[in-house]
Amino acid sequence: MESAVVASFLLLLCCQAAAAAAGATSSHRRPPPLTRHHASPLVRQRRHVTAGDDDVTTAVPAMVQYETRYYTQRLDHFNALPASYGTFQQRYLINDTFWAGKTSPIFLYAGNEGDIDLFTNNTGFMWESAPRFGAMLVFVEHRYYGESMPFGSKKKAFKDASTKGYLTVTQALADFTSFVLRLKSNLSAPAAPVVVFGGSYGGMLAVWMRLKYPHIVMGAVASSAPIRSFYHLTDPYAFYDRVTDDFKSESNNCYDVLRGSWAELDGLLATKNGSALLRRSFNMCNGSSVRDIPSLLESAMVNAAMTDYPTPSGFLAPLPGYPVREMCRAVDHPSSGNDTLAKVRDAMNVYYNSTGASPCLGGEEDGDPYGMYDGWNWQACTEMVLMTYGLSNRSIIQPPWPFNFTDVLDSCRNATGLPPRPFWLEAEFGGYDIGNVLKGSASNIIFFNGLRDPWSTGGVLKSISKSIIALVEPKGAHHVDLRFSSKDDPEWLKKVRAKETRIIARWLKQYYKDEAVSGPVWIPPN
Ligand SMILES: *[C@@H]1O[C@H](CO)[C@@H](O)[C@H](O)[C@H]1NC(C)=O
Ligand SMILES: *[C@@H]1O[C@H](CO)[C@@H](O)[C@H](O)[C@H]1NC(C)=O
Ligand SMILES: *[C@@H]1O[C@H](CO)[C@@H](O)[C@H](O)[C@H]1NC(C)=O
Ligand SMILES: *[C@@H]1O[C@H](CO)[C@@H](O)[C@H](O)[C@H]1NC(C)=O
Ligand SMILES: *[C@@H]1O[C@H](CO)[C@@H](O)[C@H](O)[C@H]1NC(C)=O
Ligand SMILES: *[C@@H]1O[C@H](CO)[C@@H](O)[C@H](O)[C@H]1NC(C)=O
Ligand SMILES: *[C@@H]1O[C@H](CO)[C@@H](O)[C@H](O)[C@H]1NC(C)=O
Ligand SMILES: *[C@@H]1O[C@H](CO)[C@@H](O)[C@H](O)[C@H]1NC(C)=O
Ligand SMILES: *[C@@H]1O[C@H](CO)[C@@H](O)[C@H](O)[C@H]1NC(C)=O
Ligand SMILES: *[C@@H]1O[C@H](CO)[C@@H](O)[C@H](O)[C@H]1NC(C)=O
Repeated sequence: MESAVVASFLLLLCCQAAAAAAGATSSHRRPPPLTRHHASPLVRQRRHVTAGDDDVTTAVPAMVQYETRYYTQRLDHFNALPASYGTFQQRYLINDTFWAGKTSPIFLYAGNEGDIDLFTNNTGFMWESAPRFGAMLVFVEHRYYGESMPFGSKKKAFKDASTKGYLTVTQALADFTSFVLRLKSNLSAPAAPVVVFGGSYGGMLAVWMRLKYPHIVMGAVASSAPIRSFYHLTDPYAFYDRVTDDFKSESNNCYDVLRGSWAELDGLLATKNGSALLRRSFNMCNGSSVRDIPSLLESAMVNAAMTDYPTPSGFLAPLPGYPVREMCRAVDHPSSGNDTLAKVRDAMNVYYNSTGASPCLGGEEDGDPYGMYDGWNWQACTEMVLMTYGLSNRSIIQPPWPFNFTDVLDSCRNATGLPPRPFWLEAEFGGYDIGNVLKGSASNIIFFNGLRDPWSTGGVLKSISKSIIALVEPKGAHHVDLRFSSKDDPEWLKKVRAKETRIIARWLKQYYKDEAVSGPVWIPPN
């Protein structure tokens, strides 16, 4: 298996580099991702999902229609060195059908670590709100992801540190800013209010954009944005402890069985016969290694916790509603045998094989269907050193992994060849005592967090002022509020979306009053 770059994400992918370090000490420890996921099974399943015609629940709604355009973006916003004047084509997706005129809102999605259409397709809240507000929809891809590659190609963009070095948060925010100014100028709409939306790392970008460029965006909807997930701001064990609590909340037996399974897997991996047994019982694909099983299990558990949505979904993988509950049901009532291996296999099948279309586990190690890993591995080890590494004794993932910041930084240095800057983003945007800081310096931000989501451990969970509002849902998962609505949505989710809609309307009302212009009449939710 490739050790360093099995990505996981925040959607935030989190901690690839550390994974490399982890790999050295334990057979299964991999990096935690912000949106973590293991790519290959995903790829294979998606192929089947798109081929299948009966699975309407996880398909992209027909409403998602847009034009793809490109903006000539500057390579480096912060220097006048000759190289800074280089440009690249930044992709954006736009739908102006609902836009009601030059003072009508522009809803901007701050693209995060992957192909922009992944987020466009999974941010139904914007699509469903646009007609209500007469808003234009614009989804801008993050530099170094998808098609938005400096230096002409992905290969050249990721050649070495001298080309990757332009992949930073501040550059990305300046990209969005310069894009918005150009768009508004093209539209001759200087007074159009811009509301920025983002989920996960995109949510962090949305918050930071509102803080740094308040004259560009008048409000930010930041969903599951772990802006406190930095050293000394968040307990580094909290992320996996939350995953643990999610599973434990379903059943103690599920927790005991899964927690005990790592030692058994490691024991089998240590012998030839054990490995052969694992290969057979887990239906491993030809060409994939049984050594991947622990990290596949870990990814399945973390991703299921992150995407523990109440209805069937297809964000990182096609999943049933409440996938953590389903995994525990598989452990508690195994269908393929009564031993630990059968229980683990059944649980993994919930995540990797919910459609029944995955003939084998593992395969296609090169899979990175949304173009996330190269960019995120770099970001996670330069600036975005997020606090998700520690495994406590009670963690459902074993053995414990004591958090050692020195080791994390060392492994990052090994991965990038550069000293990480784990304190830079806090220096740039704040972090310590962020509530009091924002109270006096910011406004118009929604922080949504679902507490099932392990990333919520780094989120802002308390309202800060009248216009900086935390919406916290005990049963919510990773940016569930931004997803397309479904007739089966629980009441709490409908209420969250209605609340967000009303808050945005309030911001806009104030904006039009302050600017002494009139905007379109909005249609309130029921
Ligand atoms: C924008 O989306 C709406 C709703 O799906 C669709 O009817 C319209 O054709 C789209 N407009 C563009 C320019 O794609
Ligand atoms: C997003 O939706 C569009 C239109 O349905 C589709 O062509 C595209 O493949 C989807 N992309 C992803 C990443 O799901
Ligand atoms: C602005 O207009 C120019 C000229 O038509 C066009 O080339 C460019 O793509 C537009 N940019 C944006 C962001 O709309
Ligand atoms: C491994 O399996 C082979 C063939 O089934 C058997 O002969 C051998 O004793 C086993 N070794 C161990 C250590 O169990
Ligand atoms: C793996 O290869 C063997 C021998 O070529 C073949 O019989 C088997 O069906 C393959 N298994 C999978 C899951 O592709
Ligand atoms: C599985 O094992 C448990 C505990 O030993 C036992 O109570 C249960 O009946 C067994 N289930 C099946 C299906 O064999
Ligand atoms: C996936 O499910 C199908 C149908 O139940 C089954 O035939 C297949 O073996 C499963 N795949 C794996 C990897 O277990
Ligand atoms: C885990 O338990 C061991 C032994 O019981 C103890 O020495 C260690 O400090 C504990 N580690 C954590 C992270 O709680
Ligand atoms: C962290 O690891 C380094 C070397 O890997 C070691 O020297 C140091 O003592 C460790 N720190 C803690 C607090 O365990
Ligand atoms: C970094 O690389 C050095 C040299 O290859 C190695 O000795 C060390 O263990 C690595 N450190 C980490 C934390 O991966």
